[in-house]
Amino acid sequence: MPSLFSPFTLKDVTLKNRMVVSPMCQYSAVDGVVNDWHHVHLSGLARGGAALVIAEATAVSPEGRITPGCAGIWTDAQAEAWRRIVASVKAAGAVPGIQIAHAGRKASANRPWEGDDHIAAGDARGWQTIAPSAVAFGGGLPKVPEAMTLADIERVKADFVAAAKRALDAGFEWLELHFAHGYLAQSFFSTWSNLRTDAYGGDFEGRARFLIETLAAVREVWPERLPLAARFGVTEFAGQDDLEEGIELVRRLKAAGLDFIDVSIGFSTPKAKIPWGPALMAPIAQRVRRETGLPATTSWFISEPRQADELVTGGTVDLVTLGRPLLANPHWPYRAALELGMDKAAWTLPAPYAHWLERYRSS
Ligand SMILES: Cc1cc2nc3c(=O)[nH]c(=O)nc-3n(C[C@H](O)[C@H](O)[C@H](O)COP(=O)(O)O)c2cc1C
Repeated sequence: MPSLFSPFTLKDVTLKNRMVVSPMCQYSAVDGVVNDWHHVHLSGLARGGAALVIAEATAVSPEGRITPGCAGIWTDAQAEAWRRIVASVKAAGAVPGIQIAHAGRKASANRPWEGDDHIAAGDARGWQTIAPSAVAFGGGLPKVPEAMTLADIERVKADFVAAAKRALDAGFEWLELHFAHGYLAQSFFSTWSNLRTDAYGGDFEGRARFLIETLAAVREVWPERLPLAARFGVTEFAGQDDLEEGIELVRRLKAAGLDFIDVSIGFSTPKAKIPWGPALMAPIAQRVRRETGLPATTSWFISEPRQADELVTGGTVDLVTLGRPLLANPHWPYRAALELGMDKAAWTLPAPYAHWLERYRSS
C-alpha cells in the first residue's frame, strides 16, 4: 500500500490515510455563524476521501475575524452551527478538526474577491484592530492597530481557551491553533510586528511568550487524548536568518503540550520574497520534524499524488496537507489512489461510492 494511504495514529485519533484538508476560509458566515455553504464545502471534502478535515480559521472573538464573513466560535450559537457540520464530516468518514484564530492587525478586511484589503476608514463594516504594537502590516493592509495592553493579552488568551472548550463540545477531535500567516500569534513572534519593550516583546523569550502561554492555557482544557496542533510560520523569507528561532519556538511549544506542527510561512511583511515552487516548504518541514521530534505536516503547492506519497515515504512529513488541489477536485485522494496503482482504489471512498466505482472501472 502506498504510504499516502497508510493510517496514522496520534493520541486517541486514527486517521485512515495521510491526506489532510487544509483550513480554508470561506468568508461566507453571518455574524460568525457557519451555514449551509460550510456544510456543503466541508462534508464534500470529507466525502472526497481525505482523512482529516480542518475547518477554516475560526475567530475566537468578533475583532479576531479577518473579514465580516469569517466564521466564529465565540458564542454557543456558533458552536451549535458547527455541531451539524462535525456530524456530517464524521458520517463521510473523516476526522473533524478546526483551526481557531485571531487575525490581529490583518483583521477588518474585505473578502479576497472584494479587494483583499482593509475595510476603508469610516465604513461601518470595519472595526478597530489590535496587535502587539501599533504598526501596520502595510501594502493593502494599512490600518494601524491598537497596541494590546496586558489586559488585552489576558482576554485574548481566555478567548482561545473558551473557543477550545466550545470546539470540544461541538465534537471536534483535532484542534489547530492558528499561529501563522501574520495573524495575531505570529505577529507576537515576528520582529516585523512586535516592537514591545515589556515581557511580551524584545528577545526570543519575550516574543515567544504569548504563543507559549496561549498553547499551555488551551492544553489545560483540550483533553490529553485528543491532538493539539498548531500552524506556525517558521520563517518569513524576508531577508533575516530566522529559521533557527522558528524551530526553537516549535520545541518550546512541544514542551508546553503541542502534539503536532503544521509548518508554514510567516507572512508578517509584504517585503517577503517567497521562493514559490512545488512543495517549497517540504525541506523546511523535514528539518522542523527532525529537530523537534514532533510529527509534522506542510502544505503549499503539493499537487501531485506521487510527490505527496514520496514526502510521506521518505519521512519528510507525517501528513500531507492540501488546499487548492482539493478545491479543484475534492476526490483528489481517489485520483491519488488510481495514480499510485492501488489495488481496489475506489475503496478509498465511502462504500456506497466505492462498490459501484470499482465495478465501473472493471466493466
Ligand atoms: C480559499 C483559501 C482560504 C484559506 N484560508 C486559510 C485559513 O483559514 N487558515 C490557514 O491557515 N490557511 C488558509 N489558507 C491557506 C491554505 O490552508 C493552504 O495552506 C494554502 O492554500 C497552500 O496549500 P495549497 O498549495 O495546497 O493550496 C487558505 C487558502 C485558500 C486557497
